[in-house]
Amino acid sequence: TFTPRVFSGIKPSGGLTMGNYLGAIKRFVGMQGDMQTIYCVVDMHAITVWQDPAELAKATREVAAGYLASGLDPAQSILFNQSAVAAHAELGWIFNCVARVGWMNRMTQFKDKAGANAEKVSLGLYAYPALMAADILLYHATHVPVGEDQKQHVELTRDIGKKFNHDFKTDFFPETIPVIDGPATRVMNLRDGTKKMSKSGESDMERINMTDDADQIAKKFKKARTDPDALPDTMEGLKDRPEAKNLVEIYAALDDRSPDDVIAEYAGAGWGKFKPALADLAVAKLSPISTEMARLMDDPAEIDRILANGAVKAREIAEPILQQTYDIVGL
Ligand code: ADP
Ligand code: NA
Repeated sequence: TFTPRVFSGIKPSGGLTMGNYLGAIKRFVGMQGDMQTIYCVVDMHAITVWQDPAELAKATREVAAGYLASGLDPAQSILFNQSAVAAHAELGWIFNCVARVGWMNRMTQFKDKAGANAEKVSLGLYAYPALMAADILLYHATHVPVGEDQKQHVELTRDIGKKFNHDFKTDFFPETIPVIDGPATRVMNLRDGTKKMSKSGESDMERINMTDDADQIAKKFKKARTDPDALPDTMEGLKDRPEAKNLVEIYAALDDRSPDDVIAEYAGAGWGKFKPALADLAVAKLSPISTEMARLMDDPAEIDRILANGAVKAREIAEPILQQTYDIVGL
């Protein structure tokens, strides 16, 4: 049996969005204290697509600042960047040799990201879910909080761990559970309720950035696309209204309530009432975080120090697990 342990990470590949906050970071904070929690800035995943080196370093600090400003506490959680712990790459290679090409070919995110360009993308982009499995299993993590878009990759992690255990007749790696709960595991963008809010969203009005100030947050919510109808009294009534459903779910996540509870409160209300209320709520919850992020980003040396301390603690867990893996494999 394995001690419950949480691992998750975010790529430093451009600015953090409210999708990353509600779907990941806020939930990371919620798990702090319940179990040992390890949160990584996965910079080696970021370079699966081209990153300007200076921007990458800045984006790494921005993810760390987002973690800290949202309430992750280096005294309670291990916070570090992936490239500082070489064991990730080493176990990643072993898992490249465990995972099957057919498994990778089924990864829908690769198909979406590579599209018609699949011959021209990096080999790393194709292989990254095996590195993600290494990130998780290097700590014998049992729980991985992620947004819905990462579910398939966490399931692949289970498959890789199982195949390793089977091939080497061991029970060395745990079965990892994806933790995908709450109302905001798939936040859509504000202009098109069918597209995920993403760091690479096409226009700035589509996404809320974690660095947006109060005015930007309010303006974007007030301009969010909606439909002409008033709000129904149950979530069921929103099933064919993606923009409306998204806004109610965002409200619920920001206010730590269920969508059912929010829709019951606003039943019959028009957008003229709901959108300003949502904008006020979002400003109240998000702008203190962006203010704190700006303060932290003014002192990059302090962020680097926190990440370096976290890497020391991460290595203490990771290195013995890597050594045992090498022994099992015969390396
Ligand atoms: P992105 O998808 O923004 O490039 P990552 O791939 O680094 O970010 O994802 C980091 C975490 O944030 C993952 O757990 C992912 O599922 C979550 N996440 C990203 N976008 C959203 C979203 N729009 N809604 C909910 N969770 C999200
Ligand atoms: Na993602």
